[in-house]
Amino acid sequence: MADSTIEQSSERTAATASGSTRRGFGIDVGGSGVKGGVVDLDTGALVGDRIKILTPQPSTPEAIAATVREIVTQAGWEGPVGLTLPAVVTAGVARTAANIDKSWIGTDACALFGAALDGRPVTVLNDADAAGMAEDRYGAGKDVDGVVVLLTFGTGIGSAILNHGVLLPNTEFGHMEVSGQEAEHRASSAAKERHDWSYKEWSKEVSRVLTRIEDLLWPDLFVAGGGISRKAEKWIPHLTNRTPVVAASLQNTAGIVGAALAAQTSIGT
Ligand code: BGC
Repeated sequence: MADSTIEQSSERTAATASGSTRRGFGIDVGGSGVKGGVVDLDTGALVGDRIKILTPQPSTPEAIAATVREIVTQAGWEGPVGLTLPAVVTAGVARTAANIDKSWIGTDACALFGAALDGRPVTVLNDADAAGMAEDRYGAGKDVDGVVVLLTFGTGIGSAILNHGVLLPNTEFGHMEVSGQEAEHRASSAAKERHDWSYKEWSKEVSRVLTRIEDLLWPDLFVAGGGISRKAEKWIPHLTNRTPVVAASLQNTAGIVGAALAAQTSIGT
């Protein structure tokens, strides 16, 4: 059995309820951890525990599918499941594979997870798209009725665009060229560490990326996600782009919550 940790959420109830139309189950597949939990779809809060299992290495489709099955079994969940991948996902098929085993490319993730979960309905979508849906519905973007762009800063940069709550899936702004360099090579939090930049130094690179995106999309709000958003007060004040930037508020549950929401609304497949 893989190493697993159970993290308690604020609402301490047994994570066994399933079948309710107002509850869903989401699993966020990342490069270092696979995390899942039951979500209250009215509030976006986790119901019960957040279950985390270290991502198996190599992170092949079969190994991840076994981990996903273990999480759902541990939770005792019997309903539909939404899942994220750090990949472009079209019609349930992974088309790219950033920070996950390359054998995902071309894998029918929906069929794979569906089979691993005894044929129940599953929905698979890009990780940043899930986080964007969650932040737009329940978190930092919930009061903005316009175009919200969420960017996740981590090993790479993930992106999601929502217009009046509707997602345009699989935008990949992390791979956009900005002044001769891919945005995520320039301004991910991994780039900050690689260059040993201060928050202020790094924020110049983030500003360049945000300026390029806002010149093309004219969003009403940027939501900054990823682990580094927990230190938002150290870098958001240094940004020089024109669109307001706020830190994500759901933190490490956004992917789970967005996946559960997507499964309910069947965005993705
Ligand atoms: C990938 C995206 C992903 C992001 C965050 C990027 O490198 O291309 O699909 O959303 O990393 O994981």
